[in-house]
Amino acid sequence: MAGEQNNIDDLLLENRKFPPPVDFQKNALVAGTFLYDEARADDEGFWARQAAELLHWDTDWHTICEWNLPYAKWFVGGQLNVSFNCLDRHVLAGRGDKVAIHWEGEPGDTRTITYAQLLDETKKFANVLKSLGVAKGDRVNIYLPMVPEAAVAMLACARIGAAHSVVFGGFSSQALADRINDASAKVLITADGGYRRGEVFALKPAADEALANTPTIEHVVVVKRGGNDVNMVDGRDHWYHDLMAEASLDCPAEPMDSEQLLFLLYTSGTTGKPKGIMHTTGGYLTHVTYTHKYVFDLHPESDVYWCTADVGWITGHSYIVYGPLSNGATQVIYEGVPNFPGNDRLWSIVEKYGVTIFYTAPTAIRTFMKWGDQEPAKHDMSSLRLLGSVGEPINPEAWMWYRDTIGRGTCPVVDTWWQTETGGIMISPLPGATTLKPGSATFPLPGITAEVVDESGARIDHGGGYLTLTRPWPGMLRGIWGDPERYKETYWSRYGDRYFAGDGAKLDADGYLWLLGRVDDVMNVSGHRISTTEVESALVSHPAVAEAAVVGANDATTGQAIIAYVTLRGGSSVDEGDLRNHVAKEIGAIAKPKTIYFTPELPKTRSGKIMRRLLRDVAEGRNLGDTTTLADASVVNELQKRAAEAPSED
Ligand code: WT7
Repeated sequence: MAGEQNNIDDLLLENRKFPPPVDFQKNALVAGTFLYDEARADDEGFWARQAAELLHWDTDWHTICEWNLPYAKWFVGGQLNVSFNCLDRHVLAGRGDKVAIHWEGEPGDTRTITYAQLLDETKKFANVLKSLGVAKGDRVNIYLPMVPEAAVAMLACARIGAAHSVVFGGFSSQALADRINDASAKVLITADGGYRRGEVFALKPAADEALANTPTIEHVVVVKRGGNDVNMVDGRDHWYHDLMAEASLDCPAEPMDSEQLLFLLYTSGTTGKPKGIMHTTGGYLTHVTYTHKYVFDLHPESDVYWCTADVGWITGHSYIVYGPLSNGATQVIYEGVPNFPGNDRLWSIVEKYGVTIFYTAPTAIRTFMKWGDQEPAKHDMSSLRLLGSVGEPINPEAWMWYRDTIGRGTCPVVDTWWQTETGGIMISPLPGATTLKPGSATFPLPGITAEVVDESGARIDHGGGYLTLTRPWPGMLRGIWGDPERYKETYWSRYGDRYFAGDGAKLDADGYLWLLGRVDDVMNVSGHRISTTEVESALVSHPAVAEAAVVGANDATTGQAIIAYVTLRGGSSVDEGDLRNHVAKEIGAIAKPKTIYFTPELPKTRSGKIMRRLLRDVAEGRNLGDTTTLADASVVNELQKRAAEAPSED
């Protein structure tokens, strides 16, 4: 029981198990424990073998890993070019005609781009960047919709050793200006606009607002996509297609030091000024190539891979651009929203391109549950053979729905835990090797060591606590741009020499890892430390519930009381009392919500994470704090109104 120690309670018991299907295992890249065994014996040697086998190096490294806590360098002395590894080497090997990207615009227009074409486009754009004065070591900002030019721009930067900083196209001009200024970027690449829910959203006007306060930007390149009117400033702003028409195709890939800065990506976390997370070249590319290959059991000759993330997030960097292209995969990239023109758009794309591997977020999965089973049923999705999840804990019942309704009850589901900071996947099943449990990310990947510790930092092997990483890994962040103190303070101060991820986690009796959400969200109810994730999962296990968010609100009697916000599945209804009792039955009376609010939507960030902090403000009747990362502000306004009207039990 909790109380004696300040750990997180372990309430949810999940006993369902799914070993790898025999058919899947037959062709799987990994079916036994050999990778785990090799990595356990010598993790650095293991990573060195991956780096050597998976990538082309121009110069060999002399040291695999130099670890001066909290700073790691990987493959020191080695040289390679990321764009060469993602493009040239496939073309040189005779695979130039292989499709790299099946691109589908939201209105239904399409582009098919081969590796040879992507290479040509990248070389030309690298020359464009050079002609605009971009040199090795400079920073370039990218603010684009989901168009192939986003990948081209990133790869072109990598080709010449400039670091990119991609800003999600849904972010405001202020967010863009802050990031440009923090990075002192020289060039901005944007578009006139892009498509979203059937309409053009303007990007260039937002960029113009930002540009009024970004003195370091010398040139702006504008991709024509939306067709909306834009204002072009003479001498500063240039159309992408005009510059490309003049650009030379001759642009050899220059070998870069393994530790050359590849990109900055800003992450806001739950609070505070965004942090410019730094990722470098050799270690990062090794990590994402290795994880993309083995976690997704990639067979590049036959698979059609699709990750639904936006390129503005780390998932888009690692598992749309760098991992898949380095592995020579064929992938789908879709520009728009999942419900345009209908709620079955994604499934129509799966059918159209014969997608075999599908990677999305729990927030999307729960939304599909809400929309109902009839949407996927409209399409033949028999091409799918593997499903992935990332971004938040996936509730066991959402996992089951995903496997059964999208994966025909046969596709393995890989729940992949990682962060912007880790660069690539850290904790995940290997689908041909790991027996799955719904809702568990299972085990650290070969080469990764994760441990759960208690409040004092002592390792525990059973029950709830705090997730830490104990060894450096190739894709790890190299720091926070311009703020080394914050880097140490945020990640390396709480548990000595361990990296603290900020997440709660528990280990079950079989050693499986279960992520319990951000530790800032853990509730304290009568001295019990209860994870929001477990109560949410108990709620979602009710057949009427699609999605739930749970917060602890101040309570005179219990310290905090559990307040739940619940979204029902299409066509379902349930009584509040029944639902409270359901939670009590699933995980215990201590976790029974005091109040449940039914709501058609939950407040989420632009990347789909539930904003529990805001719900806490609402539940405690406070004025809302920072709402700038909120995707749809009307949702909390509505909930606030209802909270004010609700009769108080006290
Ligand atoms: C945080 C990192 C990783 C790319 C997308 C998000 C949460 C992520 C899982 C998962 C439980 C997860 C964690 C983590 N998270 N994946 N499979 N199970 N939680 O990147 O924005 O840097 O967020 O997302 O809380 O710390 P990010």
